[in-house]
Amino acid sequence: MQTIIVTGGAGYIGSHTIIELINQTTYDVISIDNFSNSTPQTFDRIETITGKRIRNLNVDICNLEALEFAISSVKSPILGIIHFAAFKAVGDSVLNPLSYYHNNLESLVNMLKICKLKNIQNFIFSSSCSVYGNVDQLPVTEETPFAPAESPYAHTKQIGEEILNDVVLSGAKMKVAALRYFNPIGAHATGLIGELPLGVPNNLIPFVTQAAAGIRSHLTVFGSDYPTPDGTCLRDYIHVVDLAEAHVLALKFLFGIKEPSYYDVFNIGTGNANSVKEVIDTFERVNKIKVPNVIGERRQGDIPTLWADVKKAKNILLWEAKLSLEQSLMDAWRWQSKLNTARVIEKI
Ligand code: UD1
Repeated sequence: MQTIIVTGGAGYIGSHTIIELINQTTYDVISIDNFSNSTPQTFDRIETITGKRIRNLNVDICNLEALEFAISSVKSPILGIIHFAAFKAVGDSVLNPLSYYHNNLESLVNMLKICKLKNIQNFIFSSSCSVYGNVDQLPVTEETPFAPAESPYAHTKQIGEEILNDVVLSGAKMKVAALRYFNPIGAHATGLIGELPLGVPNNLIPFVTQAAAGIRSHLTVFGSDYPTPDGTCLRDYIHVVDLAEAHVLALKFLFGIKEPSYYDVFNIGTGNANSVKEVIDTFERVNKIKVPNVIGERRQGDIPTLWADVKKAKNILLWEAKLSLEQSLMDAWRWQSKLNTARVIEKI
């Protein structure tokens, strides 16, 4: 049996990708996750959904010695790595830049050392649309030159891509795809797994669902004076299950490449732009529930408008997003509703 390693397998995108790997491939999947921003129960939920128990190596990827030891316990050949594990809160990265540079870059370098050591030739990197910075050309294509990173988080993704490109250029026998995610939202259709922010959410959708559930008194819309049709920021919101599927197709694409060394980047979005107000209105309409909200100040570091040109992923990876904003917001609410029920049961 050949193995695919998924780092950050208990995380939001990692857990959804594991489910798609189980459903769409025959590979053995092993996760590496130290639960720094996730919970081991995610693997119980993956088992409920798929009937498969995922083995997890609980190790800090920044600790190379511990990582090497953990990987040495994997006896089957490792065909590829999907590297999700990283810190991802933009605002936090502005306050704690060193922890982002350390965690996100050290972990990538260590995973690449493991690839060299174990001759692992296929690698998918979680990049981000934030690599583009505040660009004028919209929608962004993969050729759009980067503007300066707006946060240390975004900078770690720019540097991460450069590290991977340098490694491939050095002649390493590796095939690498960096996937630039736009704004992942939604949850698995079962409502059993989804985004589980610890503490106060930073991202829009968890805040919307928590405000609708009464966990937060209201949502603050960060700025309504942007140069957009309704004054609020525009983003490309992509369903996490579509995003998960992009990883499976990217992996299959890498397996099919005959050259020993390859590096490329792909936008993974829907190609649609929706404003914060549109998201709130759509959420209220499809879920028939109010989202208490007020207009507030702009958030530092926010880009007014960003959405993807997705032709390259469609043409090369044969992937495109299928699920609508409406579906994403219904799935996000189903997940939040199940969380609320779980919390009530826990209290009893
Ligand atoms: C950013 C990054 C993205 C990264 C993600 C990880 C950019 C362009 N994108 O997404 O690559 O993967 O963080 O966290 O840097 N909003 C509110 N009220 C809230 C929360 C958000 O109005 O309480 C608004 C924001 O101003 C923004 C939109 O909602 O316009 C989306 O925000 P968010 O979900 O935080 O994602 P990004 O900042 O776009």
